[in-house]
Amino acid sequence: MSKKLRIGALASGGGTNLQAIIDRCADGSVEAEIVVLICNNPGAGAIARAEKAGIETVTIDHRSFDDRTDFDKAIVAALQQAEVDLVVLAGFMRIVTETILDSFPNRVLNIHPALLPSFPGLHVQQKALDYGARFSGCTVHFVDSGVDTGPIIIQAVVPIFDDDTEDSLAAKILVQEHKIYPRAIQLFAEGRLRIENRRVIIDPPLANEDVALINPPLR
Ligand code: GRF
Repeated sequence: MSKKLRIGALASGGGTNLQAIIDRCADGSVEAEIVVLICNNPGAGAIARAEKAGIETVTIDHRSFDDRTDFDKAIVAALQQAEVDLVVLAGFMRIVTETILDSFPNRVLNIHPALLPSFPGLHVQQKALDYGARFSGCTVHFVDSGVDTGPIIIQAVVPIFDDDTEDSLAAKILVQEHKIYPRAIQLFAEGRLRIENRRVIIDPPLANEDVALINPPLR
């Protein structure tokens, strides 16, 4: 049997995406193992989730670094120490710079709670509502040096209804995040993701499902 993909996860918050990945690794639908969780926030709920799953946790508090590069170097050192193959950002609220990207080229993934390239950045559920979009969703992408600009691997779409709030929309999107992040990681683990220009080609391809969504409905 080939060696399992070794994941290093970076998180700042509650860690529900981390949990989804832990669970899918445990049930075998993702052929990988999270070998380290690095947290910049000592109070993050993600830490308890990782500990419960027996995953090594490392806290690297950005506030104890004067220099941004030194913070990133500390993260790289912890990832290398754990012999990580893939870095997964799971609600990591710091911008990832070249120090990390150059150490893991095309090996850093992120999940974003909007349909990129619409609504990059923060507070994007509220931004989608305020804009009057009829759909939003989530995106798993490779991380590049921009903010939420890297090549897109997988997206899920959810409808926005007139009575949606920021919280209700975030909750709907989160349900889909927990499905598509493990899926993207499994495609990576299978070696099926190839980046051509900025497109991610899935090779061998998956069956296309040619489904159009319309909101509000035609009748
Ligand atoms: C998610 O909405 C994710 O898309 C965004 O931050 C949130 C993290 O949630 N990047 P959790 O910590 O995984 O619960």
